[in-house]
Amino acid sequence: MAITIPEIPEDAPFSAEQRQWLKTYLKELAKSISSGAQAIPAGAAGKPRALFLYGSQSGNAQALSEGFAERFAENGWSADAVDMEDHATVNLGMEPLVLTITSTWGEGDPPDNAIEFWEKFSAEGQGRLENTRFSVLSLGDTNYADFCEMGKRFDTRFEALGAKRIATRVDCDVDYEDLAEEWFSAVSKKLEEIGKEVFTTTVTTSGGGTVESLENIPFGKKRPFPAPMTARKKLNLSPSDRDTRHVELKLDGSDLEYEVGDAIATFPKNDAALVDEILSILPFNTSVSVTVPDGSKKPLRDALREDYSIRSIPKSLLKKWKALTSHPYLNAVIEDDKSVTELLEGKEVVDLLYEFPADFKSGQDFVNLLRRLQPRLYSIASSPKKHPGEVHLTVAKVTYESHGRVRKGVCSTFLCEGLEEDEEIRVFMQPTKHFRLPEDPSKDVIMVGPGTGIAPFRAFLEEREVTEAPGRNWLFFGNPHEETDYFYKDEFDEMQKNGVLSRIDVAWSRDQGYKIYVQDKIREFSEEVWNWIDGGAHFYVCGDANYMAPDVEKALFELIRKYGNLNDEGAADYIKRLKDEHRYQRDVY
Ligand SMILES: Cc1cc2nc3c(=O)[nH]c(=O)nc-3n(C[C@H](O)[C@H](O)[C@H](O)COP(=O)(O)OP(=O)(O)OC[C@H]3O[C@@H](n4cnc5c(N)ncnc54)[C@H](O)[C@@H]3O)c2cc1C
Ligand SMILES: Cc1cc2nc3c(=O)[nH]c(=O)nc-3n(C[C@H](O)[C@H](O)[C@H](O)COP(=O)(O)O)c2cc1C
Repeated sequence: MAITIPEIPEDAPFSAEQRQWLKTYLKELAKSISSGAQAIPAGAAGKPRALFLYGSQSGNAQALSEGFAERFAENGWSADAVDMEDHATVNLGMEPLVLTITSTWGEGDPPDNAIEFWEKFSAEGQGRLENTRFSVLSLGDTNYADFCEMGKRFDTRFEALGAKRIATRVDCDVDYEDLAEEWFSAVSKKLEEIGKEVFTTTVTTSGGGTVESLENIPFGKKRPFPAPMTARKKLNLSPSDRDTRHVELKLDGSDLEYEVGDAIATFPKNDAALVDEILSILPFNTSVSVTVPDGSKKPLRDALREDYSIRSIPKSLLKKWKALTSHPYLNAVIEDDKSVTELLEGKEVVDLLYEFPADFKSGQDFVNLLRRLQPRLYSIASSPKKHPGEVHLTVAKVTYESHGRVRKGVCSTFLCEGLEEDEEIRVFMQPTKHFRLPEDPSKDVIMVGPGTGIAPFRAFLEEREVTEAPGRNWLFFGNPHEETDYFYKDEFDEMQKNGVLSRIDVAWSRDQGYKIYVQDKIREFSEEVWNWIDGGAHFYVCGDANYMAPDVEKALFELIRKYGNLNDEGAADYIKRLKDEHRYQRDVY
């Protein structure tokens, strides 16, 4: 549907800023109507209206927003959870209540779906929001220096635009469930005090047009591509107790594109045996169909394999569970946070079913209690220039024991052993704009990637090989044993022979009586590392966020201080400068 944008009369009583805002709004409105999207809040007239706006990369903020919006809707609100990527469908100035949930990525950056919206929202042209009430929930990780940075920025910006904060921003660390619930309670309580009528909208129309059917939109996050697995190879050799696999997926027919440094998001299926065990414990006829989050109906078994998380248990789930069981212990501890944490430690949904049998009436009753199964991210280990139409991954299978059971990581197990050859796995690309090779191919690069951290560097090296980049490449790799855990050894040997890999230094942590890690190798060759960096090299780190990345940064800091003849402050400034110049980039998890 083509829409003509009306001219704003010269004598209309608007300031320059208001005029600009209105112009942009009308443009976006026209765009969204012609694309069939909802343009203005479709609040059924007379209902209070709430917009949950989410910035989310790996789905946490999205899942929270959708869950909260659903709870609002059950409580009589007209509530939507809207992806910031779809900002053109939103007119913030008309929204009486905007509840923003956003994560932070990169080094204090917006998640990719929020980049464009943030640019607009933080720009001068953004209109005032005097009639909007707001609150912000931020998701983050205290391992990062810029903890919850985007939540903080949204919070400040809403306030600066005149919106009224109804509840204090809450910043969550990786275990965000409980704090998110607290934020939700605080918001709900405040809304009760203010009164729903304040948020009642008179808007009765939606933007018109028809919502595009999924088949017509390109493959991506909203329409993941079913990619067949075409090859898989074990990277750990016997007798290693680890299991890491090289996995190849085909992208033919998808139009999906990626650059080296990007990650891919993959939707796993839960372990079939575990799902069957759960079905055997449930106290009702399990040969039934249920409605899953996308609105379709499918057999309960398929829904439990494909749509719901049956692993870790958030406290909020336990509270709902409690309402369906009269178990005296659960009743006794439910209000005590510490006891609940202890109770849930290392447990999964199957453990709860055994321990606290509950009175689920139906399959729908049961799945309504569960969270959505989320995609997992994997760094891409291939260059599209070397392997057109393919994407390669390096996946470590997560396995551990708790409460006498072997636990299996959902997605890593699915990719390493569940997925059969030629079976499809749904994927979408997750561009990682903060992790890129130097634009100038003559620049040297130092790559530190122990364990699965090697993945993007295999891709970097392939890219540098195919493009014949003249810069030098130095790789630090590490793992427990040289004999069994030297991933991609043949390829790296070949790359050394043909001159692509200028230098490789390896740290085998358990091949001797004491531990050697990549940071020790960086220390051993610190003068050369300094010479490379001082000469303009880019320094990359990928892999473990908790121990490896901080230890590598410490080694980097020390060598900069020593060979740069700097004090602590000077070395910290130097590192900051490297980051600002995108010469020190990390992709850690
Ligand atoms: C940007 C990015 C890139 C990534 N790249 C890669 C990659 O290239 N290769 C790769 O293998 N992974 C990569 N990951 C990690 C990957 O996304 C998954 O998190 C990982 O595979 C585990 O997912 P899962 O579904 O198998 O495990 P889940 O089912 O999600 O289980 C993981 C959870 O199990 C628990 N757990 C794990 N080990 C133990 C233990 N020993 N004791 C007790 N509890 C435990 C923890 O609660 C943990 O959160 C990346 C992550 C990010 C964010
Ligand atoms: C590569 C990477 C970079 C991240 N950078 C930050 C950061 O700078 N600050 C922060 O607080 N959290 C950071 N995080 C943590 C995420 O914000 C956190 O995991 C959040 O729960 C993700 O929510 P989402 O799934 O909605 O995107 C980062 C996570 C990853 C994997």
